[in-house]
Amino acid sequence: MKKYCLETGSETETKQLAHRLAKLLTPGDVITLEGDLGTGKTTFTKGLGEGLGITRTINSPTFTIVKEYMGALPFYHMDVYRLENSDEDIGFDEYFHSDGITVIEWAQFIEEYLPAERLNIYIERIDDKQRRIMFQPNGAYFDTVCKELVQ
Ligand SMILES: Nc1ncnc2c1ncn2[C@@H]1O[C@H](COP(=O)(O)OP(=O)(O)OP(=O)(O)O)[C@@H](O)[C@H]1O
Ligand SMILES: [Mg+2]
Repeated sequence: MKKYCLETGSETETKQLAHRLAKLLTPGDVITLEGDLGTGKTTFTKGLGEGLGITRTINSPTFTIVKEYMGALPFYHMDVYRLENSDEDIGFDEYFHSDGITVIEWAQFIEEYLPAERLNIYIERIDDKQRRIMFQPNGAYFDTVCKELVQ
């Protein structure tokens, strides 16, 4: 399936892009975020949350794997960094089949639990401020979402 690439030149631009993506999402959507430490996965998540009308501060779930927020839709923010080399299932299916939006940082560590239909996002650091953000839709629905996002 096609990939879509965009670049952002600041933290604010990344949040704005995520904010726009949030407006295109529908209940049950699953979004994965991959990229090296400090590339902007949580920043992107904050933008998504804003786009969903969440007013509570979103920060990385350090002590828990998943944090739940309520906005226009329920919003589930997972950071599964600590599940590397573990096959622990915290009940992922319930989140993935819910009516909320689920975002997963370091999703490659729970690859085997991810639903087939999802939007993969990869963030790459170009320099201090510049990021390349690559969208890889799995399924026709997310392909349409990406087309709308980049147009
Ligand atoms: N274009 C940009 N987009 C996003 N963040 C940027 C950008 N330019 C600079 N930054 C900075 O990069 C950092 C990204 O941090 P963030 O916590 O979002 O990364 P992360 O990928 O979630 O890290 P971790 O792997 O620790 O979870 C922030 O300090 C942010 O200000
Ligand atoms: Mg993070």
